[in-house]
Amino acid sequence: MTALRPLIAGNWKMNGLELSLDEARAVAAAVEARPPAARVAICPPATLVHRLAEALGGTGVEVGGQDCRAESSGAFTGDVSAEMLTDAGASLVILGHSERRAGYGETDALVAAKAGAAHRAALEPIVCVGETRAEREAGRTLDIVTGQVRGSLPEVLGGKPFAVAYEPVWAIGTGLTPTSEQIEEVHMAIREVLTAMFGDHGARVPILYGGSVKPSNAGEILRLRDVGGALVGGASLKAADFLGIIEAA
Ligand code: 13P
Repeated sequence: MTALRPLIAGNWKMNGLELSLDEARAVAAAVEARPPAARVAICPPATLVHRLAEALGGTGVEVGGQDCRAESSGAFTGDVSAEMLTDAGASLVILGHSERRAGYGETDALVAAKAGAAHRAALEPIVCVGETRAEREAGRTLDIVTGQVRGSLPEVLGGKPFAVAYEPVWAIGTGLTPTSEQIEEVHMAIREVLTAMFGDHGARVPILYGGSVKPSNAGEILRLRDVGGALVGGASLKAADFLGIIEAA
């Protein structure tokens, strides 16, 4: 079973003003000059999706949102729908990030509804899962993560483009990373669930690792079994760092 092309996605989180477009342009120029093995995407805050999509159009670097609402429109002050992201030029969307699960009480069922909305709007969802430090210490990592995968991916994604990102909560923004064995153990467990849910397609979809990925550890992480790319926070904000990760893929 051939794996799909790896994906390196940058999650800018709530960072980025007009000036930051220059970093993205530098990434795109390098990617155009030397096309990497991986697909590359940048997910800026919603305010920059349209400008980034215009700036990067035709370069091969894709643009994604960081969240969307499950409904396509309506009286939901402050929210953004999947259709709006597509309309602004996005082709992907991060869903169920732990910062949203923890900060906004997003449940697996809500994330699944958002993933369905992404599919409806022709966006490729990157669905995030991951255990907290307490859950890992209690020996519950595989239960938690496989439960999140089962609950957060609607059946409608069968045969459609999507990715799962394993992001241990304790590794995000901390400089800590799991051991190679820990990453492989979780990715293999996710793969098993995906294959059970989606058959051959589930056996091939990229499973990204996220949490303190940087140029110095990217090569080692990206070579691990069943690691099909990376979801990168802090190190995606500077072109030089992000390119170091892209080149390691
Ligand atoms: P850091 O790369 O800053 O640890 O963030 C990871 C992350 O949350 C990406 O979604």
